[in-house]
Amino acid sequence: MDCVPIRLAESRSMPAPAVLPTGSAHAKAILVGEHAAVYGHPAIALPMTPLRTVAEVRHSPGPLRLSSGGRSFPVTQLPHRFASVGVATTAALDFFNLPADDLEVAVRSGIPPQAGLGASAAAAHAIVEAVRAHARLPLDEASRFELVQSAERVAHGNPSGIDAYATRASEPFVFSGGMPAPLLLGAPVWFVVADTGVRASTDEAVAGVRRTVDADPARGSALLARIGDLTRGAVTDLEHGQLTAFGQRMTAAQQILTELGVGHAMIDQLVTAAVGAGAAGAKLTGAGRGGCVIAVATGADRAEVIQSAMTEAGAVAVWAVTVGET
Ligand code: PMV
Repeated sequence: MDCVPIRLAESRSMPAPAVLPTGSAHAKAILVGEHAAVYGHPAIALPMTPLRTVAEVRHSPGPLRLSSGGRSFPVTQLPHRFASVGVATTAALDFFNLPADDLEVAVRSGIPPQAGLGASAAAAHAIVEAVRAHARLPLDEASRFELVQSAERVAHGNPSGIDAYATRASEPFVFSGGMPAPLLLGAPVWFVVADTGVRASTDEAVAGVRRTVDADPARGSALLARIGDLTRGAVTDLEHGQLTAFGQRMTAAQQILTELGVGHAMIDQLVTAAVGAGAAGAKLTGAGRGGCVIAVATGADRAEVIQSAMTEAGAVAVWAVTVGET
């Protein structure tokens, strides 16, 4: 998607509001299609709305500051891990022609970072919305997407755009041709998302896959195309409520992701535990090399058993997500 934010004409300074301007966004998981999405193949995203990041714009004398986790930094001296939220802040202020001084943007994240759950995109969305509320102006969806993507380019290098949509979406969707489309569900689906506790950077994982593909383009392209086929098959499975077939495609995608170099021993451990506990399938979700594993269950009771098995196998956190409930 090629959208250039439209700039407002004159620089504006704002009176202090009675209620502090805030924004929020949530985590996401990818059911199937990560990494292949960077190469134009489809993927399926699942919003995880209870896991949220909130941003607030406050008055603070002096140069623009960013605070998170009890620490506060001038935006010009941010640690590397806050570089993308710094870009989200300055890009959003610039977009609305607001002065950057005498402000602090405070970010509270309930999403584990570097875990494949879209923490960077959610933080960018929360900040963009908080700045928009501070500006008291509307923001069209294309410009909002592009502002988040400008931050994601710092976090990811070459983001497909799926996280920028998924961290604001309320329903699962198919990401195809760079755009989200509704995912049809023929039956309820129970997912368990488990955190390996291993932190891994998305840009390094994406760059690693790029190196694998470049080293043997024919093999690399075939592996990515195979993930694309699995994703298209998964869309049909979900539409027809065929969870066993869908789970098998998830597990097949996991094998390909491992071949692409984004596996990890802890991912394997949690996948094995989930499948051993009766999951129809399981795989890494997000960039991999650590992060989270997603498993699919054919019922609520089974999902609970899988959740316990993944915890016993070493997951540091586990979340249940049900979609398509009647
Ligand atoms: O790990 P996350 O939450 O940053 O997700 C990355 C998803 C990738 O497909 C690996 C990259 C992308 O931009 O689509």
